[in-house]
Amino acid sequence: GMKQRLLVVANRLPVSAVRRGEDSWSLEISAGGLVSALLGVKDVDAKWIGWAGVNVPDEVGQRALTRALAEKRCIPVFLDEEIVHQYYNGYCNNILWPLFHYLGLPQEDRLATTRSFQSQFDAYKRANQMFADVVSQHYQEGDVVWCHDYHLMFLPKCLKEYNSKMKVGWFLHTPFPSSEIHRTLPSRSELLRSVLAADLVGFHTYDYARHFVSACTRILGLEGTPEGVEDQGKLTRVAAFPIGIDSERFKRALDHPTVKERIKELKQRFEGRKVMLGVDRLDMIKGIPQKILAFEKFLEENPLWRDKVVLLQIAVPTRTDVPEYQKLTSQVHEIVGRINGRFGTLTAVPIHHLDRSLDFYGLCALYAVTDVALVTSLRDGMNLVSYEFVACQGEKKGVLILSEFAGAAQSLGAGALLVNPWNITEVAASICYALEMSSDEREKRHRHNYAHVTTHTAQDWAETFVSELNDTVVEAQLRT
Ligand code: UDP
Ligand code: G6P
Repeated sequence: GMKQRLLVVANRLPVSAVRRGEDSWSLEISAGGLVSALLGVKDVDAKWIGWAGVNVPDEVGQRALTRALAEKRCIPVFLDEEIVHQYYNGYCNNILWPLFHYLGLPQEDRLATTRSFQSQFDAYKRANQMFADVVSQHYQEGDVVWCHDYHLMFLPKCLKEYNSKMKVGWFLHTPFPSSEIHRTLPSRSELLRSVLAADLVGFHTYDYARHFVSACTRILGLEGTPEGVEDQGKLTRVAAFPIGIDSERFKRALDHPTVKERIKELKQRFEGRKVMLGVDRLDMIKGIPQKILAFEKFLEENPLWRDKVVLLQIAVPTRTDVPEYQKLTSQVHEIVGRINGRFGTLTAVPIHHLDRSLDFYGLCALYAVTDVALVTSLRDGMNLVSYEFVACQGEKKGVLILSEFAGAAQSLGAGALLVNPWNITEVAASICYALEMSSDEREKRHRHNYAHVTTHTAQDWAETFVSELNDTVVEAQLRT
């Protein structure tokens, strides 16, 4: 039959634009789990709608960028600086993001936050309406519209107001917190109600789905059923759809000459030392300070390992206009400096901390030469870095140390060493255990994870979600 037409709507497009001249743009791949996952989805007739990450105030620039993006099947939503400040930096990344990861509402400047809250929430709604307007310009009957993440919780409602027949799905890439946490949010009810306008609501894990249903029953007083949430006979289906990666893409990359060359270089560079790796956006949810402090404790307690191990931490700059992220950056730099000062020698330092992103091949090479990967998220929707590491370890069969608070702990728990990242003593002990693990045990653990990562792909994830959405709409029509 005909391919299902799909409109994917997310705040961030898979490419970010950089202006080169009045009407010329270059496009770079955006970083982050949402983009990685959706890039792994093939064989659907999909178009992307989202923000290109730049302010384009002039019409000449907008027209040129729209043309450049069209080649990538992308459609831009233009947000001006003020909206970006209030909606993206403010409501999304200073309020929703920390709250959904159990970091609470902003602590400092509490009064100022409370005052700006309403205007930020208004901007959030306005921004969502701007996304809806662009969707409605491109929508054709029968299209599936798939909305993504915490930036767009208002979108399902806007879309259904525009056309109640539209097939609308919404998927959250972060955790959904306990209803006790969600309760603290001033706009708790309005947000839940607008999400419930969707036909299908999806989460990475069963726990997140359950938290969402509890929030709807406790805060809105609606009825939760095994299928989802019911409001006066109208059902919103709620379910878990754990995401995956395009593991074949990583396996293929390892055979690429560029990657092979880089692997050779890295092996020479770190000869005689075990390589530990962290790859994270520089975000407070990733537990980077906790990870580095655990590594310090490990060095403290194991003098014999000091010149035999190195920690490579790739910290991708992110949301740099939000003050909390700026504070984190200086905090991390300070700890790294102190530890390198303490344990470094004239020829080597224990921590290589990089404030930058890597290209795909560079990342694959690093994953492949790593002995122990360290994922210490305090909370994380899924964490794709852990999956990508496993996919690149076919030969080496290295160890994954994984936070029990990452969604991935539910799928990779059997093969990884699970840790509580707040317990630095435990993480330090796990580092030691991982470095000294027998090859038998490493192989057994790796086999578990590898089997999971290679059979639960991003492709399957998207197909399952879209077909479930189609089924849900058909069932609803049968009921009425
Ligand atoms: N990533 C990237 N460039 C880098 C480092 C990482 O594009 O320099 C990608 C990485 O491959 C992964 C994603 O960013 O796919 C991070 O996803 P994850 O789910 O681990 O965390 P998120 O950033 O979404 O919180
Ligand atoms: C997380 C979010 C995504 C977001 C990504 C990068 O993965 O779930 O929605 O795109 O981080 O963050 P940014 O703010 O740069 O889009």
